[in-house]
Amino acid sequence: MPTMTRRQFNRALLGSAAAFALPRMTPAETTPTLVAGQARVRLAPGDYPETEVWAYGGTVPGATIRLPQGGRVTRRFVNELPQASSVHWHGIRIENAMDGVAGLTQAAVEPGDDFLYDFTVRDAGTYWYHPHNRSWEQMARGLSGALIVDEAEGAPDVDMDEVLLIDDWRMTDRAEIAEDFGAIHDWAHAGRIGNWITVNGDGAWSREVQAKARLRLRLVNTANARIFSLGAKGLEGWAVALDGMPLDKPEPLDRLTLAPAQRVDLLVDVTADDGDEALLVSSERDGDYALAAFPVRGAARTARLAEPGPLPPNPVATLGPLNDARRAELLMEGGAMGGMRSAMMGGQMMDMRDMAAAGKVWAFNGMADMDETPFIEADRGETIRIAMTNDTAWPHAMHLHGHHFHRVAEDGSLGPLRDTLLMDRGETAEIAFVADNPVDWLLHCHMLEHSAGGMMTWLRVA
Ligand code: C2O
Ligand code: CU
Repeated sequence: MPTMTRRQFNRALLGSAAAFALPRMTPAETTPTLVAGQARVRLAPGDYPETEVWAYGGTVPGATIRLPQGGRVTRRFVNELPQASSVHWHGIRIENAMDGVAGLTQAAVEPGDDFLYDFTVRDAGTYWYHPHNRSWEQMARGLSGALIVDEAEGAPDVDMDEVLLIDDWRMTDRAEIAEDFGAIHDWAHAGRIGNWITVNGDGAWSREVQAKARLRLRLVNTANARIFSLGAKGLEGWAVALDGMPLDKPEPLDRLTLAPAQRVDLLVDVTADDGDEALLVSSERDGDYALAAFPVRGAARTARLAEPGPLPPNPVATLGPLNDARRAELLMEGGAMGGMRSAMMGGQMMDMRDMAAAGKVWAFNGMADMDETPFIEADRGETIRIAMTNDTAWPHAMHLHGHHFHRVAEDGSLGPLRDTLLMDRGETAEIAFVADNPVDWLLHCHMLEHSAGGMMTWLRVA
């Protein structure tokens, strides 16, 4: 018998119908699976055909994984996609080997192969999972899901707790995913902006509520590149957490900006009357439009509940003295209408035209691909400051893996803990965090065309 690699073996196995009847030989049979594969789902209204997507478990979004704080997530990821993939657990302060970054923390999982993810969660809050290999294509095709960690104690009292994954699709007029993933125009501009927005895979998501009910809404921006500007009608309340991390003090809800990968937890009361409709709206260029509708039927109570207190804090280490902290600088350059003319690629200086031909149009500190040496080498437990300058004509959503950070204002005051920071064109921002999680972590723009196009670096915590 000719020797087969394990990958070929798995492929052969998947290819034969009889294989499905065989019992699994490995002790993994009790482990729940997370299967990525092709599926057909209804994304567009009924007069359009269904859309062929890539999905976790056949649904868009994938099933919400929900567990109590301190609990353990165990999933055998099975790749039934036609290309290699991996699963990243966005925002989880995770063991490095479970971070799911293909090429940094693990090898990409080839078609027909599998990978066991197994980790515990220290922090409560709203997180999510998505591929971290060709994510600019794989997420545009539909791969993402929510990961919700319930507070061990002190969870707020609510009448309803809903996860709303907000996504942006680029579709043809036949409701097929447009397959222009590598379009260099998108890569050099705002990223892949779509033409169809869904909440939980539904273009007209709605949920019945009662007047004066208190809702916890967990909003997640799973779009490749679209920044949402959100508002509410007939819902009043507070933002209580950002990127999973509780705010010290609930913030009265006004308009809010949600960049790719960012999350916000809202505690809102239904102030619309019985028979009316409350709305979550997105402001787009052509006006406000309803993302999610909450038709009001009946009343939960006669008067609004009292203002909520903050959520219980997560066990994140306190920053050391900032004056003594190691400080690094990150210059973000490139893109259309920027001043960058050349950058290092593969150890060589290349001009923009040659870079673009190789799909690179951005650079961090003059480098358009990931260097073999980390951008920062931190001692474990050290406080790190990174001063970032967005010297481009575009906004960027800067995401750090394995840690949450504070923004440091010019007067030294600290912003809320986040894992993804939106920086406007021309803006500078300094972040600080305790580098207490070994070993190798990415820092990149979460506009997926931007990270693939050069806005990605990594740091090492010894
Ligand atoms: Cu949401 Cu590098 O990840
Ligand atoms: Cu960007």
